[in-house]
Amino acid sequence: MTTSRIPGFYNLTLAERRAKLADAAGLSPFELTPFTSPLASDVASNMVENAVGTFSLPLGIALNFIVNGRETLIPMVIEEPSVVAGVSFMAKLARAGGGFTATSTEPLMIGQLQVLEVEDAEKAAERILAHKAELLTYVDAAESSLKSRGGGARDLEVRIIPESPIGKFLVVHLIYDVRDAMGANAVNTACERLAPRIETITGGRVHLKILSNLTDRRMAKATCMIPVKDLDFVAQVANLRYSGEDVRNGIIEAWAFAASDPYRAATHNKGIMNGVDAVVIATGNDWRAIEAGAHAYAARSGKYTSLSVWSKDGEGNLVGELAMPLAVGIVGGATKVHPVAQAAIKLMNVKSAGELAEIIVSVGLAQNLAALRALATEGIQRGHMSLHARQVAIAAGATGELIERVANQLAAEKNVRVDRAAEILKGMA
Ligand code: MEV
Repeated sequence: MTTSRIPGFYNLTLAERRAKLADAAGLSPFELTPFTSPLASDVASNMVENAVGTFSLPLGIALNFIVNGRETLIPMVIEEPSVVAGVSFMAKLARAGGGFTATSTEPLMIGQLQVLEVEDAEKAAERILAHKAELLTYVDAAESSLKSRGGGARDLEVRIIPESPIGKFLVVHLIYDVRDAMGANAVNTACERLAPRIETITGGRVHLKILSNLTDRRMAKATCMIPVKDLDFVAQVANLRYSGEDVRNGIIEAWAFAASDPYRAATHNKGIMNGVDAVVIATGNDWRAIEAGAHAYAARSGKYTSLSVWSKDGEGNLVGELAMPLAVGIVGGATKVHPVAQAAIKLMNVKSAGELAEIIVSVGLAQNLAALRALATEGIQRGHMSLHARQVAIAAGATGELIERVANQLAAEKNVRVDRAAEILKGMA
């Protein structure tokens, strides 16, 4: 791919956009056909029980991204207006600072075994740790394919829960490298395999054997720098001018609100997840797992807080950072069976789960910036207006070119309501 900048993309028809996209990504249009084909009934039926149909959502393309020096076109599946436009615009601003720099850790998942009814928790913990090497080898022996791909059991840790509604008990953590898979199945299988050995060693009873979605050993982090002069901005409302310094300071003040108040942090992080989930869904990954991990991580200190940090550098430029757990895969599960997920991964040309996580965390940071910039200046409603107005026009029964005309009228009147849309539509008939 030579560039993720495709000027005028917004004004093209869907078919023209797909043609441009294939061209920019160096793919044949055929490779993007899953984007326009409904999920086949037999695939749906093999994915969930009692399938009766499928449910579609829009798939948009985030433009302008450079992640670790690489131009990247990013598929996003989302029902909410303004998200795709917001991240694309912020990615354009971030280009001046070199785009997004992202890193990811090794793909280490945590599997948990709850060990009950041990006589002496401390002694049992010691005994497990004394058998660590043997237990790790035992887990690996059953998973030769993961091992041959460089993954496998890495470590065992033991935690004592001193007090709980059922009293004291032990928790064993299996640290498991799942390579390019999300890894839930591999971890759960490994935990189940380990359980009888843990029972023998501790004399206790292993109750739950399941992965943890707080995947804080499998993190991704993105940073970006926006030159302060590029934050200069004239709001459409009343032609209000905001200097770059005003916008930067406003964003830092908005972040400080989320950093100190859980009520605001929940909304702030929701904005981050608008970007994150959209790519997670487009690639067939488990967005509930990602959500669970993100929010648990945000509360790791005991107080729920912002996942991102915004500050200024020595030259006064705006600097953002987002670090979060990101257990996503590029093999297995829905990623493997859903043709759109396959095409999405091809489009981004990612070769490892870590690389995908680095793109996703960059999109999360971009979306956070889009929201804070809007909130710190003209407010969020203005940006939402035009697409929201289209949805309202459609809800009122507008079709074809009437959608645009009714939406424009609603936006001009700043009265985006279905009853008003119906009136306008009637007047146009
Ligand atoms: C809306 O989906 C997301 C925002 O509320 C995020 C935020 O407030 O930071 C705009």
